[in-house]
Amino acid sequence: MRLEFIKNLGGKEILARNILSSDGNILLKKGTKLTLNYIRQLESNGVYLVYIKDDRFSNIDVKENEEIDILKSSTLKEIPFLFQNILSGDKAEVKKSLRNIESIIDYISEEKNINTNLYEVKVYDDYTYIHSLDTGIMATYLGVKMGWNKEKVKELGMCGMLHDIGKTKIPNEIINKKGPLTDEELEVIKKHPVYGSKILKDRGLFSESIILGVLQHHEKISGTGYPLGLRENEICDYAKIISICDVFTAVSANRSYRNRFSPNEAYELILSNSGIMFEPQYVEKFKECFSIYPLGCKIKLSNGLEGYVLEQNENFPDRPIIRITYDKNQKGNVYTCDMNLLDNPNITIVDVFI
Ligand SMILES: [Fe+2]
Repeated sequence: MRLEFIKNLGGKEILARNILSSDGNILLKKGTKLTLNYIRQLESNGVYLVYIKDDRFSNIDVKENEEIDILKSSTLKEIPFLFQNILSGDKAEVKKSLRNIESIIDYISEEKNINTNLYEVKVYDDYTYIHSLDTGIMATYLGVKMGWNKEKVKELGMCGMLHDIGKTKIPNEIINKKGPLTDEELEVIKKHPVYGSKILKDRGLFSESIILGVLQHHEKISGTGYPLGLRENEICDYAKIISICDVFTAVSANRSYRNRFSPNEAYELILSNSGIMFEPQYVEKFKECFSIYPLGCKIKLSNGLEGYVLEQNENFPDRPIIRITYDKNQKGNVYTCDMNLLDNPNITIVDVFI
């Protein structure tokens, strides 16, 4: 299989993985022939990349995990209810929603294979609840990678799911505004961590650690964040982790006023802000936990060769193994060569087609 842009499909390709809709249902099952009609439907649902079958890359094995797909789907459906129930203050319903959402955190905590592909985490464009889900899932993976106990990982994951609940108190016309925000509007947005932490505190169901994580998720270790301008160890661990996941998922989303970052640009933004916005030890864990280039995505190398990501090298997120399919020097396709970038330190990836 390989990754391909929807816009490049010709109407005959076979889908290699299930596609979930933005509200969490299975939109198309793997094995479906992607006719022009299906392609139009996918586009209108905000899907821009799909895994398709390709015999040249039959050994690219993007782990099909229906269990986590189903959990993602059910969690995505539950998050709006969780937010509503917290806002309305119905404690019994909040507890029910929390139990439903804990299932995915428990699953990730118990699943030991966490060399996770960022594309696997971030599939759809920008929707508030998807952003909450993505942030919660990424934070959970990082908590597991930190070796934290189950209860702490669960709190962190929940904190990630709830970090932006305070945005429900910000007027929709500001949240959904197309184009850059004015200074006044930015000041209003900057209140959401305070609103969020207050909402959670008032319910009396959430630990101090979760409330603090929500309050501090826009603080930066350089002291230039908000609402309090805290620095380094004044910021709690949950907030430090969630801020990395929040920024990554936000910049890779498709915002109306600018183009989305590709995963490698978003990844680079995180790495280059280590010690400025983000706590270096957690940026290191982020590097260990998530690979940059999705399996099956097309890349271009500094020596002019092009190919597809065949396999990841653990702990080297920027040095995957590439199946070369094109050599500009030979002006044609070549299918014979796999190149491990770990063995070729002077060759870099200069472009990624996602
Ligand atoms: Fe936020």
